[in-house]
Amino acid sequence: MIGRLNHVAIAVPDLEAAADQYRNTLGAKVGAPQDEPDHGVTVIFVELPNTKIEFLYPLGENSPINGFLEKNPSGGIHHICYEVEDILAARDHLQASGARVLGTGEPKIGAHGKPVLFLHPKDFTGTLVELEQI
Ligand code: CO
Repeated sequence: MIGRLNHVAIAVPDLEAAADQYRNTLGAKVGAPQDEPDHGVTVIFVELPNTKIEFLYPLGENSPINGFLEKNPSGGIHHICYEVEDILAARDHLQASGARVLGTGEPKIGAHGKPVLFLHPKDFTGTLVELEQI
């Protein structure tokens, strides 16, 4: 059911430092910061030949990233995103298998303008999983 790894999202306490490190030390192609007010984050995309890294930095007091950074002050992997062809079929299959889909269970439009869902980390080896319809 899942396809390609679309991105790995890393929550960072200092967006500029993370961008500089990936650009200068790792020699990666690093984009400009983009505010995503609907998601409570500022993001930077790092383009790799086979996937993307997404830096997440809190935007606003109610950012979903605040709690994560309190527990992980130096930052850390926040979620991984897999591509699916049909997000509603994927959701129905997962729910029928007993996996918990977060929120209302209805896909939201994610940071790339495509429908996404998140799955409970406790159901997937301690990792928050995002599914994105491609
Ligand atoms: Co994501």
